[in-house]
Amino acid sequence: MVYLRLRPRVPPTLPRASPPTVFRTFTPRTLLPFNGLNNTPVYLAVRGQVFDVSPGRNFYGPGGPYANFAGRDASRGLACGSFDEEMLTKDLDGPLDTLEGLGEEELEALRGWEERFSEKYLVVGKLVPVGSEEAKGAE
Ligand code: HEM
Repeated sequence: MVYLRLRPRVPPTLPRASPPTVFRTFTPRTLLPFNGLNNTPVYLAVRGQVFDVSPGRNFYGPGGPYANFAGRDASRGLACGSFDEEMLTKDLDGPLDTLEGLGEEELEALRGWEERFSEKYLVVGKLVPVGSEEAKGAE
């Protein structure tokens, strides 16, 4: 009885939960729409990890200097410091870029980018090739 009389009328407000981050599996094709157009988030993949780079929309969003990486596997381009089209996986339904042919210096540069992205952005999923066991349900 005492409790019923004395209990606070207004339930204590809980801190608002941050939006849940759903870890998803992407293929190069399902990653493609996440390029910041039509207000979509901006995602890019680095060595199989998909980062939400939306806070860096000025870099990767439409019209940004690195917009070519949006919705794509940016690994090779980052490693080589190149925006050339051939840095990007052409066949979105084919195998992932194995980074074959890259030298030690380029791989070192890529590790540097990965480190920077891991500190700055959230990982929202992983990139897998179309047709792989892991891609089931992601296509
Ligand atoms: C003329 C050459 C370039 C200039 C003047 C330039 C300039 C810049 C500047 C000012 C930043 C912002 C740094 C910050 O505030 O954190 C930046 C970040 C960045 N640059 Fe460049 N850049 C150049 C070339 C490149 C190349 C060749 C690549 C890779 C292909 C590249 C990829 C990036 C990336 C990924 C970021 C990080 C953005 C982030 O934090 O998400 N840049 N660049």
